[in-house]
Amino acid sequence: MNCADVEALHAERWFHTIELPDGSCTPGVFDMRSCSARLDWPALTGARCLDVGTCDGFWAFEIERRGAAEVLAIDVDDPWQLDLPQEVRDRDIEELRRSAARRKKRFEMAAAARSSRVRRIACSVYDLDPAMHGVFDVIFCGTLLIHLRDPVRALRRIAGVCAGELMLLETVDARLDLLHPSSPCARLEPAPLQWWRANTAGLHAMLRLAGFEVLSTSPRFLTPHGAGLSSGRPQGARARASAWARTRLAASSAPLVTRSLGLVFGNYDVAIRARPRAGVRPAAVVL
Ligand SMILES: C[S@@+](CC[C@H](N)C(=O)[O-])C[C@H]1O[C@@H](n2cnc3c(N)ncnc32)[C@H](O)[C@@H]1O
Repeated sequence: MNCADVEALHAERWFHTIELPDGSCTPGVFDMRSCSARLDWPALTGARCLDVGTCDGFWAFEIERRGAAEVLAIDVDDPWQLDLPQEVRDRDIEELRRSAARRKKRFEMAAAARSSRVRRIACSVYDLDPAMHGVFDVIFCGTLLIHLRDPVRALRRIAGVCAGELMLLETVDARLDLLHPSSPCARLEPAPLQWWRANTAGLHAMLRLAGFEVLSTSPRFLTPHGAGLSSGRPQGARARASAWARTRLAASSAPLVTRSLGLVFGNYDVAIRARPRAGVRPAAVVL
């Protein structure tokens, strides 16, 4: 990378913290490196993998780094394909277009800097199709379901291209988890531009309804913020407290710390490994 490339990279506002060959990182709002280190990954060596809703590409590059033979990354470039309330789309369409273009550009810059072979295509999760995209040994889907009006339909489309395992990393509603540990529940519009935030039992139910069986569920964890959180954004006391807690305490794997902070901030994350149930064959998905 030459100096101009490094400067251009650091001038962007990144969602992900991505390591670059010169030893620096993109200044992301989130730093998921420690989460990846803790995940119980399925075998990736030589695998054909898919990253759904890749954004800046952290997880796609991570899967490539962990030995995948091929990684396809998908995201939505046309804001009309995002599940947004009609009035938000009508009001913010130009800004949404710019933000989608910036997201694509960030992925491309990071991929070029890392000399990555990950292939990114514009595709909604709802349009995954085994006839067009093939099937995958490992599929990663991170923090996407909360942004979808129909998460079960999305999971069903993922099942349709899954010949191995799904690693679902998703935000969980910590209060619903505490109040209803074994009843599937979800909160509607837990935050602006989010549709559903389920409890852990709710995520398990969505997976089952989409044709998956759950193999394992990780301990709850907090995703740490990265250096980009505060850049250029005015922050209130709550956001500052959240940032402090997420950056300083997220490294703690103590369940009590995670659960308590989850209750204060309303959410934490969980990673669930699942595979399509016997009989749910890729070509059998019609939705
Ligand atoms: C919160 S970000 C999560 C990024 C990344 N997967 C992660 O775990 O850090 C959600 C991403 O999903 C993408 N997305 C939203 N709707 C989508 C859809 N219908 N199909 C595919 N990607 C979608 C967004 O553009 C955004 O990049």
